Amino acid sequence: MSENIEIRRLTTPQDLFQGAAEDVLHCATASIAKRGRFTIVLSGGSTPKSMYQLIAANSSSSLPWNKIFFFWGDERHVPPTDPESNYRMAQESLLSKVPVPPDNVFRIPAENPDASAAAESYEETISKFFSLKPGEFPKFDLILLGMGPDGHTASLFPESPALQEKTRLVVSNWVEKFNTSRITLTLPVLNAARRIAFLVSGADKAAVLHEVLEGKGPGEKYPSKLVQPTDGKVIWFVDRAAASELTASVG
Ligand code: 6PG
Repeated sequence: MSENIEIRRLTTPQDLFQGAAEDVLHCATASIAKRGRFTIVLSGGSTPKSMYQLIAANSSSSLPWNKIFFFWGDERHVPPTDPESNYRMAQESLLSKVPVPPDNVFRIPAENPDASAAAESYEETISKFFSLKPGEFPKFDLILLGMGPDGHTASLFPESPALQEKTRLVVSNWVEKFNTSRITLTLPVLNAARRIAFLVSGADKAAVLHEVLEGKGPGEKYPSKLVQPTDGKVIWFVDRAAASELTASVG
């Protein structure tokens, strides 16, 4: 296993949320001390929600929220008010509960009926924020990711076209099994991050976690395997149920 991968095994889901929340706070404080701001990419899915609630409950008054900038790793092709919206989940569990300036929140405009246009517009938002030159990728301080039982992460699904993307920052990705498009950051953006935290909880993730971390299957079938930052670090926060098929020596 490469040196820039670390596996943090926690016992219960609650321990996992706590451990990951502490890591976010630590990373925020360190990034602000070093660079004057903290750029974080939020993930959808059910696992991060409890962690967002913990951060909201414990850190509302202790963080310099005006120096924290929020982005999303992926979005369902729905308006921000939709119960399926990743933005809405983060808004309800975290952003509405802390004093973050609205100008620091950069959501994916997935209400656009044209998913490719939404992706292009988000790419422009990111390029502008980071003052990127053509061909450059942003260096987010922290990208939070989940992993589905099929090994997908963000909206990078197994054998989907977005996995081949080498130059774009954001693309719309057709997801056959849901018969819809999703809008997602691309692998080059994930892999340019300073730090990536995967949050993986529950027995339904055990087999795929084993495959992703220890198996020999191809990355196209298990997209989470393709998350290998060039200079950054990946931390896998896993609970006991999710880690139950990992060999004892790992981590
Ligand atoms: C989404 C996600 C997706 C998610 C995984 C894991 O929009 O659904 O960004 O990649 O993180 O599917 O989801 P759970 O945490 O719900 O298992």
